[in-house]
Amino acid sequence: MKRTRIKTILLSEKALDTVLIKGWVRTRRDSKAFSFIELNDGSCLNNIQVIADDLLKNYEQIKKLSTGSSVCVKGTMHESPGKGQKWEIHAIKIKIIQITPDDFPLQKKRHTDEFLRTISHLRPRTNKYGAAFRIRSKLSFAIHKYFHDLGFTYVHTPIITGSDCEGAGELFQVTTLDINNPPLSDEKSDYQKDFFGKQANLTVSGQLEGELFALALGDIYTFGPTFRSENSNTSRHAAEFWMVEPEMAFCNLDEDMDSAENFIKFLVEFAIKNCDQDLELFAKFVDKNLMNTLETIVSKKFIRLPYTEAVSILKQSGKKFNYDVFFGADLQTEHERFLAEKHFKQPVIIYDYPKTIKPFYMRVNDDEKTVAAMDVIVPRIGEIIGGSQREERLEFLTHRMAETGISKDDYWWYLDSRRYGSVEHSGFGLGFERLIMMVTGITNIRDVIPFPRTPGSIEF
Ligand code: 4AD
Ligand code: MG
Repeated sequence: MKRTRIKTILLSEKALDTVLIKGWVRTRRDSKAFSFIELNDGSCLNNIQVIADDLLKNYEQIKKLSTGSSVCVKGTMHESPGKGQKWEIHAIKIKIIQITPDDFPLQKKRHTDEFLRTISHLRPRTNKYGAAFRIRSKLSFAIHKYFHDLGFTYVHTPIITGSDCEGAGELFQVTTLDINNPPLSDEKSDYQKDFFGKQANLTVSGQLEGELFALALGDIYTFGPTFRSENSNTSRHAAEFWMVEPEMAFCNLDEDMDSAENFIKFLVEFAIKNCDQDLELFAKFVDKNLMNTLETIVSKKFIRLPYTEAVSILKQSGKKFNYDVFFGADLQTEHERFLAEKHFKQPVIIYDYPKTIKPFYMRVNDDEKTVAAMDVIVPRIGEIIGGSQREERLEFLTHRMAETGISKDDYWWYLDSRRYGSVEHSGFGLGFERLIMMVTGITNIRDVIPFPRTPGSIEF
């Protein structure tokens, strides 16, 4: 007999014939001749109540079922007299798969996120983390659906690369050399003897390779893991995170901002429509204002604000920031959050940043001081998207590369794309974990990725 998911049963309009369900005991309580088991199988937030009566031949064993135990139940569906649940199961047979010992860490009481991080292998069994990871899965699907329906091509850019897209040098090196005893050339490690014959690292962004494909296929996107060794132990940075990077040919900065805004709106709306029960948990227990925040994101047009205006708003705010603001300063999370949370109270797109704080590939504006960059900032998170129009003019690009110390020889292939049929093009990167944080109200990036990788932490 085939297993039926608890979600299917709970959503069912009429009683199905005998059903077989398999799952884990959340709680159990006994009355005189019955044992009531709250069973969850991960398919949805809700448990189903299984009623076992003392006529079952292993009733004595059933009464030993502890939280976390695994069982297989054959039973019949009945309308539940209890509130909130349409159906309950009257057990015909209960097969005990395993009884969990008393030291199971997830007993009934609520645990702190900090504690649950130390048991990341078990935390998806809690209501909150189960919900978070179902939402993460739904939104991954939504990303593919969004771009697929718009006719974008999904491109798998490499994870091991020889380049540093963002030019920030926050690279994890990939090598097969013996780091305790590397072959030397001029007293330095000889990478010609390394696996790839040159230095290699994990990618910080799929953008550069994405651009090459956009200049062939028009509209493309990448969606995959990216890696940064920035040593910032914040609640918004992970060393391994997932990024979605669309790249569009024949697209300028204005159109790029339009697509970033549409994309975020689509994803939030998708979550509201498709994750209702899981989202409710977050609106109830994590952030009481969550649904308002999400509705605002969907309904209000994002503010568009040139960087210079952002700087003057911050200066005039009279607020004391930890980092000074002036033209040329990189905006910090505290500045971004002030603008999105306090000043505008909604998402803001800041654009035309000083070129001195942005990577080499961004298109230089006519003022020659700023580049056609844009960041989408949202309440509580700060930056969620970073993007730009790319420098398509060969002379400008080579000039910027020289200015920022990027070798023309190493990036010959990127320069080729500006030699042959170069066109205006733009794109952006959305930090997937930050999206999940925004949608759920979870405030620490470590709690939206199954097994977080952060400085000093690689358990599991
Ligand atoms: O602004 P970033 O660095 O932009 C790029 O990498 C471009 N190549 C994207 C592009 O134009 N195709 O990163 C993009 C986004 C950020 O806005 C942020 O949401 C997320 O990636 N991000 C991180 N998320 C978690 N942990 C980190 N360490 C992150 N660094 C960036
Ligand atoms: Mg950025």
